[in-house]
Amino acid sequence: MGVQTGLKKKLFIDGEWIEAQNYTSLISPYSEEIIGEIPTATEEEVEKAIEAAYRAREVMAKMPAHKRSAILEKLVSLLEARADEAAEIIALEAAKPITIAKGEVARTIQTYKFAAEEAKRIHGETIQLDAAPGGENRVAYTVREPLGVIGAITPFNFPMNLVAHKVGPAIAAGNTIVLKPASQTPLSSYFLADLLHEAGLPSGALNVVTGSGRVAGEKLVTDPRVQAITFTGSPAVGIGIRNKAGLKRVTLELGSNAALIVDKGVDVDKIIPRCVTGAFSFQGQVCISLQRVYIHESLFDTFVEKFVEASAKLQIGDPLNPKTDVSALISKGDVQRTLDWIEEAKQHGAEVAAGGRAEGNVLLPTILLNADKALKVSCQEVFAPIVIINKVQSVEEAFELVNDSRYGLQAGIYTENINTALLAAEKLHVGGVMINDIPTFRVDNMPYGGVKESGVGREGIKYAVEEMTEMKLVVFNRN
Ligand code: SIN
Repeated sequence: MGVQTGLKKKLFIDGEWIEAQNYTSLISPYSEEIIGEIPTATEEEVEKAIEAAYRAREVMAKMPAHKRSAILEKLVSLLEARADEAAEIIALEAAKPITIAKGEVARTIQTYKFAAEEAKRIHGETIQLDAAPGGENRVAYTVREPLGVIGAITPFNFPMNLVAHKVGPAIAAGNTIVLKPASQTPLSSYFLADLLHEAGLPSGALNVVTGSGRVAGEKLVTDPRVQAITFTGSPAVGIGIRNKAGLKRVTLELGSNAALIVDKGVDVDKIIPRCVTGAFSFQGQVCISLQRVYIHESLFDTFVEKFVEASAKLQIGDPLNPKTDVSALISKGDVQRTLDWIEEAKQHGAEVAAGGRAEGNVLLPTILLNADKALKVSCQEVFAPIVIINKVQSVEEAFELVNDSRYGLQAGIYTENINTALLAAEKLHVGGVMINDIPTFRVDNMPYGGVKESGVGREGIKYAVEEMTEMKLVVFNRN
């Protein structure tokens, strides 16, 4: 493996690598070895990053679209050339199994490609003002202007691609960025800073500050020079950001307890591999991970048997081993939390059909049957390889159970019946309904975001560009 560990990283501010005042050790979630020394930015250092981004905003706003696009295209080719290294960084710092990390890098490349394309099609529309009395003899159109400085606060679970979903559209739209990546996965963002610098992004257009949410996050959210916050993370932090952000634009991609409905008559053998991937890929640490299955009672026994059988084949272990399917959770605290939640489920009558225990920091893929809807494993976001399977008598009952949630990011339904599919599309109160697929489906140009405590706003490059630009109206009076 080629990634150098044990390095002391620096802050990336105004196009330069700056020695920080304070450092903290970065620990591998799997081996628990120190893999680097990471800056913990002080308020003063975050101030410097914001000031640099604020100064650079005019340069970025004036940069022609073809140039912004070319920088993103260059980033794509640099990332393609170093894709293996990028995947190793993700595997090392996030304990993401290397084959899945490679998939994330491929998606990141796609995301920046979409951003390079989108930079060239940011446009407004002409408005027919004479549809209103008094609007005669006027020509009107809208344009979309960059907001200025974007504060991007990103999670550990997709340290490259969820950063790309913020940095890509911000650059495409002509904004500047102060990026605060998750403290567990800073290396991916420092790697990106290197590549974007090499790709020719002007100094100050991207600044990376690592450290705590309390210092760096708080400063970004409350500083008036930062025009918008784009955050992916927990509902509690997201709601806190919304409350403090005042009139700033805020995009929040928060959690969920994503559900799948399996209707009667579905071919169970066909859907099992997708369900196993949806529930256990990257240890379930995905906002749209399959957490709840509501299956027609006629299929319950067969589905459980085959799901348990398929899950037993998953290899657990070192994320850098290409054979590994499931590795460590991001922290010891999460291992203990999830074991406590499983224990609560057992105490209240749920049956453990697989897993239910940890080996080191790896929670074994866990399947719980007949878990009550009030249990934490049902109604909170587990963010771990835990799935509950409950039987239902009808899809109507399943719709109610899916909707009986604080969250609403994505939901899935497998059905052979077109009317049931259309009914699900109408009834499910979520940001995205996947017909004949798991809720975990995502490609990077689709609108992605939730309702209720799953967030506000949408990502997916085109939609994020809308969130990161301001519409301006121009009216010519020809009277
Ligand atoms: C997320 O965890 O919100 C991102 C899921 C994905 O991009 O596949």
